[in-house]
Amino acid sequence: MWAAFAKPEDFPNLGHEAIDDEHENIARLMNELHDAIHHRVALSEQRRLHHELETYVRVNNRSEEQMMETDSYPNRESHHKAHEAMYRKLYEYEKVLQAGREDASLQGLHALRELLIRHIAQEDSRVASWHRIHNISADSPD
Ligand SMILES: [Fe+2]
Ligand SMILES: [Fe+2]
Repeated sequence: MWAAFAKPEDFPNLGHEAIDDEHENIARLMNELHDAIHHRVALSEQRRLHHELETYVRVNNRSEEQMMETDSYPNRESHHKAHEAMYRKLYEYEKVLQAGREDASLQGLHALRELLIRHIAQEDSRVASWHRIHNISADSPD
């Protein structure tokens, strides 16, 4: 038995329950996809997991975008662009998966994991901190 591919401790906890839950789901799906590639399950199943992963990434990004709007987060534009770049990577990765070469699929998933961990640690964490500060000083809680 090997260690989980995307370990929960690698995905920084931002202290925001909903966003953290979404990130956890993303990590879980990456693990499922990793296992599927590793066990050479049917490509259709790998594609299904990729689709689910992409859906969760979109759900998470939309929650963050909504939060940034509500909180008037100053760097909305650049965060938004980072999300768009993420969708492009996911789209490119879908093509890699479809080619059905295990090495390339695993390598691509590693790159995707690094991208997501970096984004959460650097950019999402700023949104979560801003949200915390914004809501401490707000008159009415949401
Ligand atoms: Fe995120
Ligand atoms: Fe984000």
